[in-house]
Amino acid sequence: MATVLKVVLLGESGVGKTCIINKFISGIFDPEVTTSLSAQFVSKTIEFKDLKQTIKFDIWDTAGQEKYRSLAKIFYKDAKVICLCYDITSLKSFTELRDYWYEEQVKTNTDTEVIYAVVANKNDLYETSQVKDEEGKAFARKIKGIFQSTSAKSDSGISALFENIGRKYFNPDFDSNEAENKQKEEYQQKKNEKMQQKKQVVTSTNRGVKLDAEKAKNENQKKKGGCC
Ligand code: GTP
Repeated sequence: MATVLKVVLLGESGVGKTCIINKFISGIFDPEVTTSLSAQFVSKTIEFKDLKQTIKFDIWDTAGQEKYRSLAKIFYKDAKVICLCYDITSLKSFTELRDYWYEEQVKTNTDTEVIYAVVANKNDLYETSQVKDEEGKAFARKIKGIFQSTSAKSDSGISALFENIGRKYFNPDFDSNEAENKQKEEYQQKKNEKMQQKKQVVTSTNRGVKLDAEKAKNENQKKKGGCC
C-alpha cells in the first residue's frame, strides 16, 4: 500500500510553482500559464523499487500573490512536506522566501517532523541568476531541508525533487548534496560513454575513408600499370 504524503508548494508569485507541478504531473511546460487565484490539488504515485516502497504525493499548489498570503496556512498546516520555492533570477523571491514564507509563516505553524525542500527554480536562466546555489543550499542546511535546483522549462531536477523528498521521508539522514553529487557523477559517466561511442564511430569512419582511399590508390596504380 502506498504511503500518502501531503506536499505544499509555497513562494512568491511567479517563481514557477504551477509550472513545476504541471511538469511533474503531465510533462508539460506552458509559458503562458496564468497566475493562481486559489489553491489546486493534484496527485502522482512514484515507486521506489530499491526501497520496495510507493509514495502517493498529494500536491497542493498555492497562490503566491500578496493578497492570498493569509490563505496559505489552511493548506500547509497539516502538510508532511513543504517546498519553499524561489526564482534564481529574482533576489527578492529568495529573501521573501527566507524572511517571510519561512520565518513568519511556516516556522511556527508546522509540525516539527515536516520535511522542507528548498527549490531553486528557472535554472535554465542561470546566466541572469541573482541567487547563487550556495545561498540556497546554506538556507536548506539551516532549516535541515533538502535543496534542489530545477527548471520547469527545460525539465531539470523536477523528478529528482520528488524522488529526494521520498528518500528523505524514508531516511531522515538522507543528504540531497550527496544525491546531487551522485547525479552529477552519473551524468558525467553517461556523457563520457557517449563521447567514447562517438569517438569509436569517428575512428571507424576514418578507417573506412582511409581504406577507400587506399583502394582508389591501388586501382589507380593498376590502371597506370596497365597503360604503360
Ligand atoms: P503564482 O500562481 O502567481 O503564485 O505563480 P507561480 O509561482 O505558480 O508561477 P507560474 O508557474 O505561474 O510561472 C510564472 C512564470 O514563470 C510563467 O511565465 C512561466 O512560464 C515562467 N516559468 C516557470 N518556470 C520556469 C522555468 O523553469 N524557467 C523559465 N524560464 N520560466 C519559467
